[in-house]
Amino acid sequence: MDRYVTLSLELHLFFARIMKEHALFLEAGFTSANEEFVRKADFYKRGFESVLRRAIGLSHGITDQSVLESGELFTEFTANAERQTQCFTGIPIDRELTAMAARLRCGGPCRVSPVLCRQVRQLNETALRLLDGLIGFKETTLKRVLACRMFTMNYPLLLEHIIREAKLYRTFLRDAERCCLDGQTMKETEVFWNQIMMEHAQFIRGLLDPTEDALIKTSDAFAQEYAALLARAREANDAAMGRQEALKETLRFRDFKTAGVQGITGCKIRSVILPLLADHVLREANHYIRLLSA
Ligand SMILES: [Fe+2]
Ligand SMILES: [Fe+2]
Repeated sequence: MDRYVTLSLELHLFFARIMKEHALFLEAGFTSANEEFVRKADFYKRGFESVLRRAIGLSHGITDQSVLESGELFTEFTANAERQTQCFTGIPIDRELTAMAARLRCGGPCRVSPVLCRQVRQLNETALRLLDGLIGFKETTLKRVLACRMFTMNYPLLLEHIIREAKLYRTFLRDAERCCLDGQTMKETEVFWNQIMMEHAQFIRGLLDPTEDALIKTSDAFAQEYAALLARAREANDAAMGRQEALKETLRFRDFKTAGVQGITGCKIRSVILPLLADHVLREANHYIRLLSA
């Protein structure tokens, strides 16, 4: 029960924030020809804000210190990136959630009551319902874009990418509800997240201003290095070797992404990258680093 509650809440703390941001990126990317899609994206953004609020409320004294310190829940840049992104897009962001997450404290042993367990079960059910809807919404958007029935500022690959992340969250939640708490093997983790990191590098490369030569070259190099790591992880029987390499690479990529958020929020880099997207991909790298370091 302890593990069910802890794992569920840690999943929400990371992924519910990721989902509300995906909804925001979708919302910001639609044009005024698709008002209905804008409204639907906003519905999911608010839905996952409320899942996150509830998860934070239940997580005091529960969450593991390694999660709180990982930089996957928020970073030193999140609050500012949210403020700027709200200002640029006109889309409201519940910024209190970031302050609340920063006030979370870790727990000791044996702190899960039957009441908390019931509350977590309800929260998981709510999140699963919302996730089914959001995944369907992302898939509809992708289908329309690929059939040239809709235009959005988001790349088709970005749509595929955020569908995969949402499906991973859903798989973990479904497993938790079936009391299967083992999670992915290290090989599965590496295959999934090396591809995610490779695509981040590809997005960054494609969203930088064409004059940002040095940054484009570095992003390209990261994309190629992750492509090689991904190929090796797919073939490997033993993930231990690849794990050290992936960790080394992702620590370097984290530093690059950190410089990226600093440059974007500090108005030093030319791009069409929203500040919150820059912070979002940094948090996903921090999440992967925690998994690789465990
Ligand atoms: Fe994401
Ligand atoms: Fe991502």
